[in-house]
Amino acid sequence: MEIRIESQPYSSVSTDALITFVFDEDNKWGDVLGDIDRNMQGKLGQLASSGEIAGRSLDLSLIHFPEGLAAQRLLLVGAGKRDKFTTGDLRKISGTALRHLKSRGVKNITFLTREGFNGADAAQAVAEGLIVADFESDKYKSEKKNGKEIQSVGLAGFDSGLGAHLNVAIDHARVIAESMNFARDLINEPSNRLTPRMLAAKAEAMAKEAGLAIEVLDERKIAELKMGALIGVAQGSIEPPRVIVVRYAPESPKPGAPVLGLVGKAVTFDTGGISIKPANNMEKMKYDMGGGATMLGAMRALAALKPPIPVIAVIPSTENMPGGRAQKPGDVQVSMSGKTIEVINTDAEGRLILADALTYAKKLGVTHIIDAATLTGAIEVALANVHVGAFGTPREYLDQFLESTKAVGEKMWPMPIDDEYQEMIKSNIADIKNVGSGKGGGAITGAWFIKEFAGDTPWIHLDIAATCWVDDGRPWLAKGPTGVAIRSLVDFAFKL
Ligand code: BES
Ligand code: ZN
Ligand code: ZN
Repeated sequence: MEIRIESQPYSSVSTDALITFVFDEDNKWGDVLGDIDRNMQGKLGQLASSGEIAGRSLDLSLIHFPEGLAAQRLLLVGAGKRDKFTTGDLRKISGTALRHLKSRGVKNITFLTREGFNGADAAQAVAEGLIVADFESDKYKSEKKNGKEIQSVGLAGFDSGLGAHLNVAIDHARVIAESMNFARDLINEPSNRLTPRMLAAKAEAMAKEAGLAIEVLDERKIAELKMGALIGVAQGSIEPPRVIVVRYAPESPKPGAPVLGLVGKAVTFDTGGISIKPANNMEKMKYDMGGGATMLGAMRALAALKPPIPVIAVIPSTENMPGGRAQKPGDVQVSMSGKTIEVINTDAEGRLILADALTYAKKLGVTHIIDAATLTGAIEVALANVHVGAFGTPREYLDQFLESTKAVGEKMWPMPIDDEYQEMIKSNIADIKNVGSGKGGGAITGAWFIKEFAGDTPWIHLDIAATCWVDDGRPWLAKGPTGVAIRSLVDFAFKL
């Protein structure tokens, strides 16, 4: 899909569809909408009076052969209240428009922005929305539902005084959105087509293309490093585990630069192990490598956008299977850190593999950690599929990250990590146990377990179990993997 800045006046662009947006109090028809309405002899105004165009958020009105425009169609997307509208909302609007038109076989479209939203940020948001919306999960369908394809998009109404800045913004958008789609592709892969070894191979191919350094630890190296918690999970499977280490180093790091460590859970299939999961919905557990895919996607973007700090991703990958050698409830494992762990429930495997990955990341010299993991079903109970659960210490570090999430318009919510929850993972026979005693707080005790291995290193944990995959899809997003957290992580790497 080609995206370019349109140089012609929008009214003379012979496009299949001209897209713009309408606020709900827009009956005065400000800026370009006023012009379009005049061109159409007041017909938009009539549709508004009849209530058909009301500007409700993401309502769509498709008008064919609009008078006075060279476009074949005019698509008006509802934008809600103007005073609540942000640049970020442009992403949903452009994405919704693209999916609506694509499903109708439209090929070439033009997005016309409005007054107040014509800067480089806005162009970037529109372009991101388009590329993320264009992603489909049809890789394994013999008949692609889309012989339907958007071929080109023109962006009209942006501030031409910005010149090349607008093209830079579109390039940035492409890097970020394509990195999200790269992660989404990985998350979609079924576990027979994405074992830990295959994930490592795909990471290697990505790193090579992006110009990142990569090292993959195999089962021998993992044993040598005494990653007992990861080995405990992996021993139930015939597939060997891997730890994928990807490094970005800036050409001239800023003085005293921190080293950001991105740790991502990559369980390529989670059966639960001996504490086996019910059959219903178990197929979804192919996306239990979502945290690892997120970090690979973020690294891909960072390689192109070049923040001034070094970033190291550490991605532990394994299957969680109930094979003959599988660990059993009650087993005690010795983690790489030396801390001993009583495995109460083999289905709480994510925290086990993250434990060793955090220890290893610290050994590599990271000064700040962010982990992302499809860690708990409990985070869905707490926050539904709206917010990512964000844990962290010290609080200032978490708050700094939350600023990035707001800047890029990703919903994440700060969760408590008080000491009372630490009590709940004390074991009778080992240093800690892998599930909390007592009722409730499952996402928090899970986070506390990981925190035990972060120690004094500033640490953030993102529980993406309920947000990295959507069953229903959204008007601007296909069903399945969302690519959540990548935009925030990339923004944060420039601000740490
Ligand atoms: N991978 C699951 C968490 C999960 C659940 C991800 C639903 C995506 C959707 C994780 O390994 C797990 O099984 N967690 C257990 C922990 C429990 C045994 C303490 C859970 O949440 O039930
Ligand atoms: Zn599990
Ligand atoms: Zn899991």
